[in-house]
Amino acid sequence: MQTRVIDIRTNKNEALEEASELLKSGEVVGIPTETVYGLAANALDEEAVKKIYIAKGRPSDNPLIVHISDISELSPLVKEIPEKVKVMASAFWPGPLTMIMKKSDVIPSVTSGGLSTVAIRMPENEYARAIIKSAGVPLAAPSANLSGSPSPTNAKYVFDDMNGRIPLIIDGGASKIGVESTVITFATEIPTVLRPGGVTVEEIRETIGEIKVADAVLHDLKEGETAASPGMKYKHYAPKANITILKGSLEKYIEYTSGKDFFALVFEGEEKFFKNAVTYGKANDGLSEAGRLFDALRELDEMGAKTVFARCPELTGVGLAVYNRLIRSAGFNIIEL
Ligand code: TXA
Ligand code: MG
Repeated sequence: MQTRVIDIRTNKNEALEEASELLKSGEVVGIPTETVYGLAANALDEEAVKKIYIAKGRPSDNPLIVHISDISELSPLVKEIPEKVKVMASAFWPGPLTMIMKKSDVIPSVTSGGLSTVAIRMPENEYARAIIKSAGVPLAAPSANLSGSPSPTNAKYVFDDMNGRIPLIIDGGASKIGVESTVITFATEIPTVLRPGGVTVEEIRETIGEIKVADAVLHDLKEGETAASPGMKYKHYAPKANITILKGSLEKYIEYTSGKDFFALVFEGEEKFFKNAVTYGKANDGLSEAGRLFDALRELDEMGAKTVFARCPELTGVGLAVYNRLIRSAGFNIIEL
């Protein structure tokens, strides 16, 4: 299969026409969003959704997020809309927030990975919403990487992973946020954050009060433990390099790594201390770290890095999302200095 790329910033009409035609006929299209790029197909069409799992090489018990372009598209997809979801939607939609609710019968079981719930998001990216609107159906879309690789934040990285596997990629420029959306479930008694992202735990608490954060956000699952979110049990965001996170000060990092042959994954301004270094944003600035993390991981692979020591982000704000992705990239290899 030939994979075409159309730049929607310069060819809007052509991009929307081609994308919507393919999506309506049950094909998979790579689309930009403000978090990361998605692999989109008609969420209500079982055969189309199966093609997403094949293109990604994703286990079929890992459910997909269903993307809508307007709040009016929500109610047909779910059994009921909890009050707190309405409050959250008016505060954070469109945006990097995915909310899980009991699904209605129009959502096929392949889309929800066999679960009775469905994850819904309204992206902020104007191109994403224009594509959903012109397709005329909600779009199921996981991140547009091969299963297990870092999520792609630009059309080139989607092409690297998906060339020959899907017919079309829509290029809308770099993703603004750079890590995937916050996922929170309202199917539990107390709403529970399953994956941290651009909408922070602190912001959600301010908006709806008591919430929980799933254990798997900060830790590896213990043996026999079942994941509230199936995605958390798989190896994730892993570059080819072997990453170890060094928790502690820059001073201790320098001391620990001295004399070793390695690539440094460090914050801006720290690269001058090392022979081989890639930076991922500013220290204590989660948003700037999020914007760089997945690109930095791909760059380390391009540079042929084998051993990587990473500086550790702060666990507050968007930093929590950065930490959550980094510990998975590192296979939970963390050393306290
Ligand atoms: O920012 C994003 O969310 C991107 C863009 C493309 O929108 N999408 C994305 O999708 O990251 P994906 O499939 O890579 O991650 C979805 C996560 C997975 O960990 C999955 O297990 C979880 O959400 N999930 C989806 N539906 C669920 C459900 N019904 N119950 C629990 N977890 C669910
Ligand atoms: Mg993903």
